[in-house]
Amino acid sequence: MKVAVTGANGLLGGDAVAQLAAGHQVLAIGRGPSRLGPGGFEYADADLGDGHSVEIALLGFRPEAVLHAGAMTDVDGCERDPEQAWRVNVGGTEQVARACRALGARLVAVSTDYVFDGEAGPYREEDLPNARGFYARTKRVGEEAALLLAPDCAVARVAVVYSGRKGAKSSFATQIVEKLSRGEVVKAFSDQLVSPTLAANAAEMTGELLLGTSYRGVLHTCGATVVDRVTFAHRVAARFGLSGEIVGVKTADVKLLAPRPLRGGMRVEKAAALLAHQPLDLAAQLDRFHSEWLARSAG
Ligand SMILES: NC(=O)c1ccc[n+]([C@@H]2O[C@H](COP(=O)([O-])OP(=O)(O)OC[C@H]3O[C@@H](n4cnc5c(N)ncnc54)[C@H](OP(=O)(O)O)[C@@H]3O)[C@@H](O)[C@H]2O)c1
Repeated sequence: MKVAVTGANGLLGGDAVAQLAAGHQVLAIGRGPSRLGPGGFEYADADLGDGHSVEIALLGFRPEAVLHAGAMTDVDGCERDPEQAWRVNVGGTEQVARACRALGARLVAVSTDYVFDGEAGPYREEDLPNARGFYARTKRVGEEAALLLAPDCAVARVAVVYSGRKGAKSSFATQIVEKLSRGEVVKAFSDQLVSPTLAANAAEMTGELLLGTSYRGVLHTCGATVVDRVTFAHRVAARFGLSGEIVGVKTADVKLLAPRPLRGGMRVEKAAALLAHQPLDLAAQLDRFHSEWLARSAG
């Protein structure tokens, strides 16, 4: 099949390209030059924020399915530059959805747990979003743009994405490993409940959702364990055999531009019932993260 992936240089997009290119003809769409390793796929440099580049790349390639994983993910950056956040997260998703509509292609648009306010998580797909902050609100509008404009569309929500893959972007999880390895203190929010998501596992689930199902609507494709960030840091440290200081901080005590959901996290029963690739619990994710890390250090 012909499959396109946006956000190809990103955490989730990078793993998705690697997995999909093993069995399909893939167009990887990223911003700037490719930062992916060599592989059997085409690459296009296109800007989600300029109103047309990604749409043109998609119409040229004519995919039958598109995984839209590109987004402005800097939560506080979106607060500083709301117009760019809108251009990329809403306008970019519109570009992708319009192209899918024109081509009759299936679309999976990736979204976030931040569409919820964090008052009463963990959340199910049926729970009403109440996005706060520019990142969250533009992602929420992007969900609707995808679902309304692309006739064959699913929205896949993930959270706190991390990857140990070589070349993968830095994340909370990799910073824990790097800081503890250097003997530095790790600070983590003690009052934020989240569903950490290994990119490789999310790529498997969203890839199957895209190519192996006809499911339409919202699906939570995050990790299966809901955990506070301090406990997450301790679990990472334990899996990597690292000791050192992990200090819990309260969200309200840190100056952040955008609000953060506190009692967040997402329930994954629906994905577990629908997909052969299961949402992994934290122990299984961390085993895989550790293997990725060893492979990256070896290579
Ligand atoms: N990361 C998380 O913790 C997290 C949590 C919840 C939901 N999500 C969602 O998961 C999806 C995948 O994100 P991710 O985790 O893979 O984060 P990521 O690593 O930041 O990937 C996002 C990708 O989008 C690209 N991008 C940003 N602006 C662009 C533009 N104007 N034109 C073209 N590409 C652009 C980025 O390019 P550069 O690499 O050049 O910056 C990046 O490669 C997104 O929909 C995100 O909202 C992520």
